[in-house]
Amino acid sequence: MKIFKYIVSILVLGILLISCMPSNTTVVNTEYVLTTDMRNGKFVYLGVNENINGAVNPALRAKPGEKITVILVNGGHGQHDIVFPELSVKSDAVDQQGETTSVTFTVPDKDVALTYHDTTHFRLGMSGVLLVGDVAVTQANSVNEVSGVPSTGVTVEYTLESALADGKMVFLGKSGDIDGKTNPDLAANVGDTVKVTLISGEGAAHNIFFDGANVQSDDAVGPGNSVVLEFIPQQEGTFAYYCNVPGHRQAGMEGKFIVGSGVSTTTYNQNNSDSNSGTIENISVSVGPVDVAAVDITRDPTDIPAPIGNRGQETVRIDLETTEISGQLADGTSYAYWTFNNKVPGPLIRVRVGDTVELHLKNSPDSLMTHSIDLHAVTGPGGGAVATQTQPGGETTVTFKTLKPGLYVYHCATPMVAQHISNGMYGMILVEPEGGLPPVDREFYVMQGELYTTQPFGTSGALTADITKLLDENPEYFVFNGASLALASDTHALRANVGETVRIFFGVGGPNFTSSFHVIGEIFDKVYNLASFTTPAMTDVQTTMVPPGGATMVELKLEVPGRYILVDHALSRLQRGLAGYLYAEGDPNPDIFNTEVTPGSDP
Ligand code: CU
Ligand code: CU
Repeated sequence: MKIFKYIVSILVLGILLISCMPSNTTVVNTEYVLTTDMRNGKFVYLGVNENINGAVNPALRAKPGEKITVILVNGGHGQHDIVFPELSVKSDAVDQQGETTSVTFTVPDKDVALTYHDTTHFRLGMSGVLLVGDVAVTQANSVNEVSGVPSTGVTVEYTLESALADGKMVFLGKSGDIDGKTNPDLAANVGDTVKVTLISGEGAAHNIFFDGANVQSDDAVGPGNSVVLEFIPQQEGTFAYYCNVPGHRQAGMEGKFIVGSGVSTTTYNQNNSDSNSGTIENISVSVGPVDVAAVDITRDPTDIPAPIGNRGQETVRIDLETTEISGQLADGTSYAYWTFNNKVPGPLIRVRVGDTVELHLKNSPDSLMTHSIDLHAVTGPGGGAVATQTQPGGETTVTFKTLKPGLYVYHCATPMVAQHISNGMYGMILVEPEGGLPPVDREFYVMQGELYTTQPFGTSGALTADITKLLDENPEYFVFNGASLALASDTHALRANVGETVRIFFGVGGPNFTSSFHVIGEIFDKVYNLASFTTPAMTDVQTTMVPPGGATMVELKLEVPGRYILVDHALSRLQRGLAGYLYAEGDPNPDIFNTEVTPGSDP
């Protein structure tokens, strides 16, 4: 009880004291407590109190005109002090462990970034910043002050290796503290020499870019090959490091680079990292000349294996090769496609239900990327994708039994999957029912996809892929069989005769857009909705929806000659390259369709 009264009286006294203080006097100084320590063989200041607790070379903050106190506790390891050179403030030196010194001073009455350091250990890493007011204002100042910081003489070395982990592409630590860690935090102090060795683990091309420092390594290509990047960080802060090969950062190759305290000394850093991607984009907007060596990547819609007919179950070997080739996207426009067997879509694989498929996937030695295959006809992990991550020059195999008839999409499933699909890595596998599909006169193979180019639709030259647009689902091109208006060209149009039955195997690679598939001037006699062969076909359908990674099989009989147009009835996409022609040849059928003016019909 006595103790309780005692505490209460102290509280009351305290409240009285505080309320008696003139409010315009700065009574309670901002107080920082620092100690000294060693980290990675370097001397550092370590924050002790509240906000800065545990921070290495913490950024100290003060209001303009404020009086602050900095207390330094010697943590051992020699003689230390703290100097604020711009303010000519210098503490006493303390050389015994546990010995304390302090400085109290008034900071400038303006927004400014200042530095502090240890007289003797400055070059060994003991330095930080004091930020007064709104540091954004002091950007130019502090950047100038911080840059040109002399070398600490310390070299910080890291080794990283590219790898695939949990379906993501990552940097894997291969040295010291970071060994075995995915996308490990890397740390250094301003003025250190940072030496990063990057190994291409699986052989695909990778590099490493440090935001803030704006430095990038060369590409490491080929299994086990490495590149070394050396630089000296000039600014404190926490920055991203990542692989700058398009799509790899988004696929997971990104980590943190912590310089000094890890606290940004200026808002310049943040602005910089934000605008950085913008800068890179702006550079790539400039379009190169069209690649005259670009090839026709359009899969001809008649490129289809013969029907299975009435045969028994077999083991079927399928060979696919993934390639990265320059292809014609439109007249005078090329694009770096990624393909199965050099065409988009990949080949139509045709088997029957109950077959065992032995699929061999080769990745061309000329490839820079890892590729793989996920077939929706497969029952098993990843649809085959886990077993088929294939390095450039490599080959993998997956064997599977086709359990269900249907028309199934396949696609590359290497991170970032959307990017691989968008670049052209999709196709279909047709699993015919026992006894085969009913015979028709003509079969066609058509797939829809989208391309995300940095340059607007219609730009001539060598267009580049745009990951931001891909992630925003903001495509420039919509295509049937890989290229703009490819199936509306003389080379690849669909052709049949009046009186014939036509079947279209239609799928959407996407990666993102559902197709409202429609043939202008025709009605589908049969739609095998969602490509189910075990559900009775729908009859007499105008437009059918096909989702990304989905398919349909439609049949129609041609009764009237002329040109019919395959579209996605989301018709804005027609303006972005999405149309195909189906020509029907034969005699007119005026009973069904007649455009001649009948005499006397007009009053
Ligand atoms: Cu990479
Ligand atoms: Cu791929």
